[in-house]
Amino acid sequence: RPFAIGIDIGGSKVAAGVVTSSGELVDRRTLPTPTDRADAVEGAIVRLVADLSADHPVTAVGIGAAGWVDETRRIVRFSPHLAWRNEPLADRLAARLELPVVIDNDANAAAWGEYRFGAGQGCDTFAMITLGTGIGGGLVIDGEVHRGRWGVAGEWGHLCMVPDGQICPCGNRGCWEQYCSGEALRREARALAGTGSPMAVPLLELVGNDPEAIRGHHVTTAALNGDPACLEILCGVGEWLGRGLAGLAAILDPARFVIGGGVSEAGEVLLAPARTAFARHLTGRGFRPLAEVVAARLGNDAGLVGAADLARRAAQEPSPRA
Ligand code: BGC
Ligand code: NA
Ligand code: ZN
Repeated sequence: RPFAIGIDIGGSKVAAGVVTSSGELVDRRTLPTPTDRADAVEGAIVRLVADLSADHPVTAVGIGAAGWVDETRRIVRFSPHLAWRNEPLADRLAARLELPVVIDNDANAAAWGEYRFGAGQGCDTFAMITLGTGIGGGLVIDGEVHRGRWGVAGEWGHLCMVPDGQICPCGNRGCWEQYCSGEALRREARALAGTGSPMAVPLLELVGNDPEAIRGHHVTTAALNGDPACLEILCGVGEWLGRGLAGLAAILDPARFVIGGGVSEAGEVLLAPARTAFARHLTGRGFRPLAEVVAARLGNDAGLVGAADLARRAAQEPSPRA
């Protein structure tokens, strides 16, 4: 009775979990994200829900989607990393799943998860940054997720950090997420491997000497094992993180930045350089308190835990607002 399913749809995987009303994850399943067709993602969700609800009594399904969810929270308008374009995702899924469905942006869901059960607890104004395929943003103000007029507040992964820089799947160039994400780790690591540098040898050993097989998580694994080249790459990404946070602090002035997503599994290897760069680039430094920069306590599960909680709240309320 008290279970809700939370689903986090990212650029590389669809993660689903059964979550209790106190935010505990009691079961989980994962599938790779089909990136070619919108209806294939829907199929993956239906399969995961069928599997999990066969084993657990479930009352609602919450979806965190890596895209721009409209203000009605029924439609995914756009996703830089997935095939969705004006996709009426919530209604299509509700019809197929025969359960109440709510959708939200994946990073909004993660912010909510951390606010309820993690590193945002007791902190009424904080910003969530998820580092995965791209950068996700979620903003909690006075204990509520702030979604903006059209649902797309917090899309700071696409702030232009480098004029005429790297092309981004959003259609612009030089977006923050091009320099600070799993994709950035992968690009830097492949570039290093492509030079034939002896520095790349330990990393290449992790991927059977196939540079094409390098993913962001390999860089993290190697860095956590002390590999100097991968430590450098993560440090560079951490510096980009800190620079971006300084910009966000100029606009938002949050008490805390909570850093989640797969890349945050690097922990202090990423966060220490981020704090240094944040303090260095903060406007008015020396005259204002520094926001804390902390790791998500729910790690990469924040999105699905938050999505499940949003679904439970919506199902309990008479009106469809969560
Ligand atoms: C998208 C966001 C999403 C983020 C993380 C960005 O590229 O624009 O909507 O939250 O990636 O998945
Ligand atoms: Na968001
Ligand atoms: Zn972009």
